Amino acid sequence: MTSEIIESFEKTRIAGSIAAGALDEVSKIIKPGITTDQIDHLCYEYINDHKAYSAPLFYRGFPKSCCTSTNHVICHGIPKDKKLFEGDIVNVDVTAFKDGWHGDTSRMYFVGDVSVKAKKLSEVTYKSMMKAINILSKNITLGDIGFTIQDYVEREGFSVVRDFCGHGIGQTFHKEPNILHYGKKGTGPKLQPGMIFTIEPMINEGDYQTKMLNDGWTAVTKDKKLSAQFEHTVGITEEGYEIFTLSKKGLNHPPYSI
Ligand code: MF3
Ligand code: CO
Ligand code: CO
Repeated sequence: MTSEIIESFEKTRIAGSIAAGALDEVSKIIKPGITTDQIDHLCYEYINDHKAYSAPLFYRGFPKSCCTSTNHVICHGIPKDKKLFEGDIVNVDVTAFKDGWHGDTSRMYFVGDVSVKAKKLSEVTYKSMMKAINILSKNITLGDIGFTIQDYVEREGFSVVRDFCGHGIGQTFHKEPNILHYGKKGTGPKLQPGMIFTIEPMINEGDYQTKMLNDGWTAVTKDKKLSAQFEHTVGITEEGYEIFTLSKKGLNHPPYSI
């Protein structure tokens, strides 16, 4: 790998670990009665304390430091002064910008006890992301990533959202290529060592169709059934891949308590 690639990996590793560290902190405060604004404040403070910036804040007019997407919200939910209730599931999505580079990651959280269906959906979503990450190498194509996620998710009886995708990331928050979470084996461009991108499948309990709320950000399921998402930022190496946004505390998926 060239020195430029090595530097891009080093900087993404730092930004990624700050984003992951913020999500570790979030797991400590999630409980019935807290507001999504409290999650937002915690993310803002954590990122600020680590001398980084929150990339979502003021990104294309987005008003907050993270996205909080509850129950039937697919993605880009805006934190607000509204409480979480026992049984809710919520995705928190954080992007840290440090020393010119981005790290982007999200996890699901359970608010108190949640339904068997909600747990199953979250688990399948997490596994779909990890199955796709596990096949990453310079010898596969973008279509292989999408196929791996779609094949597994549909066999489990859930659906893959088409209207949003993963993305190249680096000195720019969202760049080429689009990383689709559905597709056909062996299609699309081959991965290259040095590529950095996100894998962030949004998986629905029911149909994959989406609806945009009037705030212009919040995407929800058309059928109002549940949706889940996890996201990691990854890099392609000569030997395989690196995940830049792993939890240093092993808190990569719920349940987070021991
Ligand atoms: N973090 C989201 C992603 O995974 C993007 C959020 S953009 C925002 O790409 F403006 F909604 F915050
Ligand atoms: Co992303
Ligand atoms: Co994100």
